[in-house]
Amino acid sequence: MIKHVLWTALLGLMTCATPTVLAEDNLRDFVLGSPCFNCHGDGSPKGNGIPAISSYDAAGLAAALKAFRSGERHSTVMQRLALGYSDDDIEALSAWLAGQQQ
Ligand code: HEC
Repeated sequence: MIKHVLWTALLGLMTCATPTVLAEDNLRDFVLGSPCFNCHGDGSPKGNGIPAISSYDAAGLAAALKAFRSGERHSTVMQRLALGYSDDDIEALSAWLAGQQQ
């Protein structure tokens, strides 16, 4: 029960921390892509040692996520995250993220 409450609170914080106005037509992309900001910041490095991703375009993000997912690119956490996304998810969230960073 406490775990459930904590996860719900965490999800709420993750959603509130994003700088995006939610529109119905990009809800799926928002849900997939917005958690990235929690670690990577919304354009500049957060000073937490995690690299900023604001310089990536959509194709670069998609390529990086697929390389993390396959294990071709070494990572500590990114492979675990990327394994949760299908190719379609990766293309959609990469395009959405790149659009947020312009
Ligand atoms: C829990 C924190 C966390 C979240 C959430 C997260 N990342 Fe990462 N990301 C990292 C870390 C840490 C690295 C460094 C590689 C590693 O050790 O996993 C990284 C590396 C990257 C890199 C390579 C950056 C570079 O220039 O070296 C890209 C691209 C990236 N992440 C994209 C994403 C995307 C897109 C999302 C959302 C789907 C995301 N990340 C969510 C922690 C996170």
